[in-house]
Amino acid sequence: MPNRIVPDRRLLLLLILLRFSFFHSSSVPVQALTSPTDIYGLKAFKASIKPSSIPPWSCLASWNFTTDPCAVPRRTQFICGLTCNSNSTRITQLVLDPAGYSGTLTPLISHLSQLTILDLSDNFFFGPIPSSISSLSNLETLTLRSNSFSGSLPASITSLKSLESLDLSHNSLNGFLPNPMNSLSNLRRFDLSYNKLSGSLPKLPPNLLELALKNNSLSGSLSKSSFDGLTQLEVIELSENAFTGTLQAWFFLMPSLQQVDLANNSLTRVEVLKPAGGKSELVAVDLGFNKIEGYLPMNFTGHPLLSSLSIRDNRLRGTIPLEYSKTKFLRRLFLDGNFLIGKPPAGFFESDNPVSGSLGDNCLQGCPTSSQLCLPHQKPYAVCKQAYGGKPRS
Ligand SMILES: *[C@@H]1O[C@H](CO)[C@@H](O)[C@H](O)[C@H]1NC(C)=O
Ligand SMILES: *[C@@H]1O[C@H](CO)[C@@H](O)[C@H](O)[C@H]1NC(C)=O
Ligand SMILES: *[C@@H]1O[C@H](CO)[C@@H](O)[C@H](O)[C@H]1NC(C)=O
Ligand SMILES: *[C@@H]1O[C@H](CO)[C@@H](O)[C@H](O)[C@H]1NC(C)=O
Ligand SMILES: *[C@@H]1O[C@H](CO)[C@@H](O)[C@H](O)[C@H]1NC(C)=O
Repeated sequence: MPNRIVPDRRLLLLLILLRFSFFHSSSVPVQALTSPTDIYGLKAFKASIKPSSIPPWSCLASWNFTTDPCAVPRRTQFICGLTCNSNSTRITQLVLDPAGYSGTLTPLISHLSQLTILDLSDNFFFGPIPSSISSLSNLETLTLRSNSFSGSLPASITSLKSLESLDLSHNSLNGFLPNPMNSLSNLRRFDLSYNKLSGSLPKLPPNLLELALKNNSLSGSLSKSSFDGLTQLEVIELSENAFTGTLQAWFFLMPSLQQVDLANNSLTRVEVLKPAGGKSELVAVDLGFNKIEGYLPMNFTGHPLLSSLSIRDNRLRGTIPLEYSKTKFLRRLFLDGNFLIGKPPAGFFESDNPVSGSLGDNCLQGCPTSSQLCLPHQKPYAVCKQAYGGKPRS
């Protein structure tokens, strides 16, 4: 028995020591660690959010400035929303929870000058994006997605040299995009979809991988000068805008391009060249719901990886080139809603043909009604005759 008392005592001592240090660290006022300018910026940030929109269980409710924001451990205060650097002197990330916060983004946010991530997505922030945001020179990720920000994108944002990802989608931003934007040399992802932007595309950041500006009111033609030197661009999402004119031959020759969505614009022509040596990454193209005239570009079949192509609901004429039924990778093909004539390539209707989609609502002859591909029905003869100026169908 006495043998066992010794370890017990040691354990007790250990517990007392642990308790003492615990007691010590939690009761003695923690030395202020966080830089005063960060605390000033944080207080201003919280003060510009309506208290009534801060639920008691949320991150912001735990921001109680009687303690130091970077002091650890965090038990009841500053339990979430903030990340500090390793020696607890500066705030590096402000990532809010989607708690339904409503308020403005204070211009004093500029005091948090070591921020690398600012993410306020899925809340009810409103008012302008302050132009002082350009002072956050270390900012790599700015995500204000799904709020109600309005006004125009401040031009000063183009001085954020460290910015890699900018997502301001699903807000009410209006006005023109700053031009040029090529000073954003680290920007990889740019998403301002679902806003109310107007004007034409600016000169774009040179190292972009992904450009998304769906559902705005952008107009003008897609000019080479906007896309010059964008050799890494993989994804272009510009559907539901008001772009016009010709999609010129350089467009589909951008070397890294994989996905293009330009549906629901007012483009009138498309030029497609065969890429030299068949070198192309292009996988999916959607040009549906435009005003594209002329023949179905045969050279799409020169892009060997193309697996999904839609040019539905346009004004295409002429026949469907035989090559369309012969490409190896094409799986989805929507050419419905045009004025295509002649007999569709028989290859589409062979039992081993993997292509799905539609050739319907055209002026085709002999599209077998037994095939899903031929739905919906072809246009009435009178409509086709008129489209071809009363000349007989081929
Ligand atoms: C902040 O913390 C102090 C001390 O813990 C407390 O007295 C005060 O009520 C807290 N304030 C809020 C707004 O929760
Ligand atoms: C804290 O770390 C930063 C780098 O993250 C450094 O610049 C700064 O001098 C450090 N401050 C103190 C008080 O150690
Ligand atoms: C954008 O989306 C809204 C619904 O989210 C829709 O009502 C509107 O028609 C779309 N705009 C365009 C230009 O397609
Ligand atoms: C384009 O508009 C049509 C008709 O309004 C709609 O059915 C379709 O979903 C839209 N497509 C895209 C990609 O915006
Ligand atoms: C198809 O591409 C080739 C090679 O790039 C080009 O010479 C030809 O003019 C293109 N055809 C059409 C119809 O654009």
